[in-house]
Parts: sequence; C-alpha cells; structure tokens
Amino acid sequence: MILGVCLLWTSTWAVTPPDEGMWLPIFVERLNYTDMQEMGLKLSADEIYSINNSSIKDAIVGLSSSASPSGYFCTGEIVSNQGLLFTNHHCGYDIIQQHSSVEYDYLKDGFWARSLEEELPNEALTASFLIRMDDVTDSIIPLLSDTMSEGARSSKVRELRSNLEESASEDGKYNVVVKSFFEGNEYYRFVYQVYTDVRLVGAPPSDIGKYGGDTDNWMWPRHTGDFSIFRVYCAPDGSPADYSEENVPLTPKYHLPVSIKGVEKDDFAMIWGYPGSTQRYMTSYGVKFSLNHFNPSIIDLLGKTLEIMKEDMDADREVDIMYASEYASLANSWKYLIGQSRGVKRLDVVDKKKKIEDEFTQWMNQNEERKEKYGEALNLIKKGYEQNEGTIKLMLYYNLGLMGPGIISYPQEFSQLEKQLEDIKENPEAPERTIALLKEGMVDHFKDYNPPTDQKLLAGLYAMFARDIPVEQQPEFFKEITNKYKGDYNKFAAEVFDKSIFANEDRLNEFLENPKAKKLQKDPAYILSGKVMEGLLASMGGYRGSQGDLNQGNRLFVAGLMEMNPDKVFYPDANSTMRLSYGSVEDYFPADAVHYDYVTHLYGVMEKEDPTNPEFIVPEKLKQLYETRDYGRYGKDGKLVTCFLTTNDITGGNSGSPVINGNGELIGLAFDGNWEAMSGDIAFEPELQRTICVDTRYVLFIIDKFAGATNLIDELTIIE
Ligand code: ARG
Repeated sequence: MILGVCLLWTSTWAVTPPDEGMWLPIFVERLNYTDMQEMGLKLSADEIYSINNSSIKDAIVGLSSSASPSGYFCTGEIVSNQGLLFTNHHCGYDIIQQHSSVEYDYLKDGFWARSLEEELPNEALTASFLIRMDDVTDSIIPLLSDTMSEGARSSKVRELRSNLEESASEDGKYNVVVKSFFEGNEYYRFVYQVYTDVRLVGAPPSDIGKYGGDTDNWMWPRHTGDFSIFRVYCAPDGSPADYSEENVPLTPKYHLPVSIKGVEKDDFAMIWGYPGSTQRYMTSYGVKFSLNHFNPSIIDLLGKTLEIMKEDMDADREVDIMYASEYASLANSWKYLIGQSRGVKRLDVVDKKKKIEDEFTQWMNQNEERKEKYGEALNLIKKGYEQNEGTIKLMLYYNLGLMGPGIISYPQEFSQLEKQLEDIKENPEAPERTIALLKEGMVDHFKDYNPPTDQKLLAGLYAMFARDIPVEQQPEFFKEITNKYKGDYNKFAAEVFDKSIFANEDRLNEFLENPKAKKLQKDPAYILSGKVMEGLLASMGGYRGSQGDLNQGNRLFVAGLMEMNPDKVFYPDANSTMRLSYGSVEDYFPADAVHYDYVTHLYGVMEKEDPTNPEFIVPEKLKQLYETRDYGRYGKDGKLVTCFLTTNDITGGNSGSPVINGNGELIGLAFDGNWEAMSGDIAFEPELQRTICVDTRYVLFIIDKFAGATNLIDELTIIE
C-alpha cells in the first residue's frame, strides 16, 4: 500500500486536568514547573531542559529510518555513557525481523551482543538528538494575510518554512524542521543532530517482548517485557557518521540513571518523547466522519489483509518471519481503530465536542467583530467533511485494497526505468544507475515477500472491492477484469502471477539483465499497477479539494477557542516533536465494580500461560527463574513487578519513551494505552486513560538473570 495508516488518539477544555497535555519543553518552566514540583519533581527546571548545560532532554532520542527525518516512529533514551539506548521491543521489531531467518531466529530466541563486535549495524535506523527549539511564529504569521487564498497561504508558509530551516542548518550539520502548531496558528523550529549508525545490542525473545501478542495489545492488565536495546555510534571525533568499522560508541551529553527502587501509587512520573499525532481539537464533524466513514473501511480492509496473511504465517515459520513486522503493525492499527470507534461511542465524544462548539457559537454571536472573524469556521469544517464523505471510501479501497498487494504496489518503483528505456536513444546512460538501485532494492523486497500469500491478497482484496464498491463507482479496468474472469478473482490472480515478471525474483532479475520498455508495458501487473495508481490519484484529488476548507476552518476554530478562554493554558496537539507529559502512578476503575491495580507481576505471566496459544508461551528459562523466585535485587517479598500504570498523556510515537521519577531516574518505558480510553487521541479521559509501562526492574531482570548479559548491566548507572 502507498499511504501509511496513521495511528490517531477531546476534551472539554474548560479546565485542563493536571495529567492532560503534551507540553513543549521550552515552556515547561513558565507553564508547568510549579505544578510538577507540587506533584513530586525534585529537579530544577534547568536540569530538565537547558540548551547550554546538559539536561534530561539530551538523553531523549527520536528514532527514524531516515537520515533527515521530519518525524519519528518511536522514542528511545540514552542509558549509559557509551551511547546505550533503550526503546520498546515493538519499536525494534522491524529491525530484529530484518536480522532474523529460520536459522538465526532472533524474533523467537532473542538476541544479545556479548561485546561491541557482536552488535548488529542497520542500514535504515537513525537517532536524532534535539539541540534546541524556538518559536518562529513571528517570522511566519505576520507575512500572511487573511485575504490570501488557502492555496497561496500554504505555498507562502512552505517557502518561509524552508528558509527558516535552511538558515539554521549550518550547511547541513543539523537537520532542521519547522512545524505548525495549533492548526497553523503558531510555528516552531527544531534543530537536530542525527546519528546514522545505530546498532542492535539486545532483544528478549518475542515470548517476553511481545508476550500476550495482539490479544493483550492495547489492554491492561499487561505482562509484556516490551523493551529492546540499541547503541548509537559516531566517528572517532564524536560527529555523526554512517556505519564504519572505525566508528566508536557515542559519548552522550547526558544519560539517564536507572532506578530499581520501584514505584508506589501516587508517585510522580514524567514521560518525555516524540508523540506522533493527536486530534484533541477535532470537531464533532470530524469525529462523526471518523466513526462513520473513515474507520469502518480501514477496519474492513485491514481485517481482510490480516486474515489472509495470518493463514500463511501460521502454516510456515519462514513466511511467519517474512511478514512478522508488517503484520504486527497492521494488527496494531486495526485494533486501535476498532477500540477508537468503540470508545467514541461509549464515552459520548460527539456530544462532548458539540458542547464545545455550542459554547463557541454562543460566544461568537455576542459581537460583530467575532462573527466577522470566526463566523465561517464551523461551516467550513462541516462543508469539508461533507465533501469527504462522498470520496473517502473509494480512496481507501484504492489505497489499501487495489494497491494493497505487493504485486501491484511494487511495480511503481519501475516507472522511472520505463521512461528512461523509452528515451534510451537520447540518453543511453540513464538507466544504468536506476537498474543498479532496483537490483539493490529487489533483494530487500523479495526477502520479505511470499508470492503465494500475495496472490491470495490480490484475489481477496479485489473480490472485496467488487463486493463493497458500487459498480457505477468502479473504474473501467476493474469492470473489465470482472467480465473477463466472470467474477472469479482467484483465476484472475493466478493469471497475473503466472505471467508477471514481478511475481518472481528470477524473472525480474532476468528482465533487469536485458531490460526493454516493451516488456514492462506488456506485463499484466505493471499495466494494472499504472491504472490503479491513476485511479488512486484521481480519488485523492477529491479528498484534497476539501483540505483548504478544513485547514482554514480548523485554524479559525482553534484561534477562536483560544481567544474565548484567555486564561486557559492550551497545549498543542502531538506532531512528532519533543514533548513532556507529567502525572503519577495510578490504578483505575474500568467499569462498574471493577478495579484494576497499578502493577502486574511475574506470577501474572504464569497465570496467563497457555502452551497451546503462541501468544502466551512462557520461555523455559523464565519459568525456572519464577519457580525458584530467583529475582536477585530486582524482586521484593518473593514478587517481581513486570508492568505499571501512570496517568500520563501519551500517544503513538511515545513508544519506548522514558518514564522518569521525581529524581530524574528511569523507572520504566512507556509502551501502550488502555482499551477503555481508546478514543483518547480525540478526547483525553482523565478518569480512564492510562499509560502502560514496563518496569525497569523487569527490564533489568531479563537482561541480567534471564539473558546473563551482565556486560550491559555493568554499563548502566543503577540506583538501588
Ligand atoms: N499498541 C502499541 C503501540 O501502538 C504497540 C504494541 C505492539 N504489540 C503488538 N502486539 N502488536 O505503541
């Protein structure tokens, strides 16, 4: 598929409860520090964020697969003076999968480097450190005008942003990103140093790191040892460098000490990291749109995709490894959206939003000037979503359905080559480099590609398109397929796989040895891929058409809300920039008469054990340690804590984030949200919403007692 499915997570804004909010570290001293001190923070404001002295911010890392990222898939934290980094197992999962095979099955068995030499380099993994951030609103907003069209406005913003980025990059030394906040009412600039040599150091077996699997995912009580370990390397002079044998472990500006003292109810906890995206200022129109139009199609399409993949994965460990990472990520999004829709309904999110909109409208109608300024805000939003209602389903069915199978999406990578082959007379040299790159990419593509599974996806997803998209909306080429194969999509898929060079690595290699444009132009998968792409782009056109109205409407609405509540401190939605959230360790009541405690234990791992269910297998060694209660300094009173809960406000992208106590010590790694508050990205639920963390005592116990990786324990600064 081409577009990723992004994970999404309101609130009545009358009073912001203390634990709601993902705060920008530069404002913490002014906005939150006193509050945090009252709750138990012992550090000075300078010790948590400073641009001149080393501070906690210097231990917080954004993880990406790009060398100049504009966002981060997860967060990590530096825990030793040799660049050692902790993150979640599910954040390292894709990397661990890439290093795994049936022979070296690190997903199943875990991986532990006993020395620096054994650490595994990665082509596409980078660690970004924030050098500084600044408010650049005044360099953008005054240069825009209210009479500009939305299109002109966004191109002006783009130009100003790129100048501001350029001017702070010091000739490429830094990766600089300017981002929009509060729906385009404010702008901030972030300056990062990006390290591109990040190596895999350790990972527990999936039976620990992913214990409970997709069944327990997004849920409490939880017993997952969701951590993995990496190390950041640099050139001998300390500067960022691509992988080289000469590289050395990074000496970081700061690393977090690790506490194994344990957590108590009401303890202060702060979480730092890179939350990806929230929609806390989303209107009732947006919520209804997600609930009725956006979520259902994605849920159906992903559900089908997962079902097909799972069948083959369960039958063959090789296929299981090939699709492990993709499956986990799709299953995570799928369950997220199901939970979100359920939460939106149960927690009356649409009504909560309507109440805010009613207050806004009343306030606005009190004077002419306000009406003039904000009168159109909600209408624009309503109109934008109405327009999208007509186009979204088709677009999603193109994107995740017709474009879903690899045999349809992968040929897109060959379109440049086709053009170069056609123009070969004018430019005979051009294809050479493209071919070299394609050959390189092919190896990675086929490594995680099982043609029989993809053939089933092609048949299954195309049959679904035929069933769910009204015939009058189906493109001509699709109707032709239906006619030609008399609705037998299995037969259609079999023929594509029989004839296409993209179905098989040898055929594709042979093609690249002697590539001809004609060959591509006659290939059934290549032809189809082109038509699907054309249809997808056309379907997105309608969707994009509404963006201007939605952008303008949302910008005005949020500006209005801020003007309406001059004394309230607003926090910006998550946008993959560094944030801090603070709260405390707490239990909760998920339903009438049901109480969930704030910690889980190793004996709970044993209670869940089910040798017949691959999601609940307990490794033999862990059972032995449990039976002998051999917990060393990590246990207490014959018990070992595995996970705990806090009230912090986080979302996807915060995965791997450090949970830090009042003394600035690491007490856990945030790794999930809870089922009862899955609408939390759209409306924070103070009573119900919790962050699920793996306890550092469980992490260190696994490294030390389970894996015997004392080399790593020795590097840490442990607070007992
Ligand atoms: N729900 C977690 C998140 O979005 C990911 C957990 C991964 N585990 C899994 N079983 N797929 O950060």
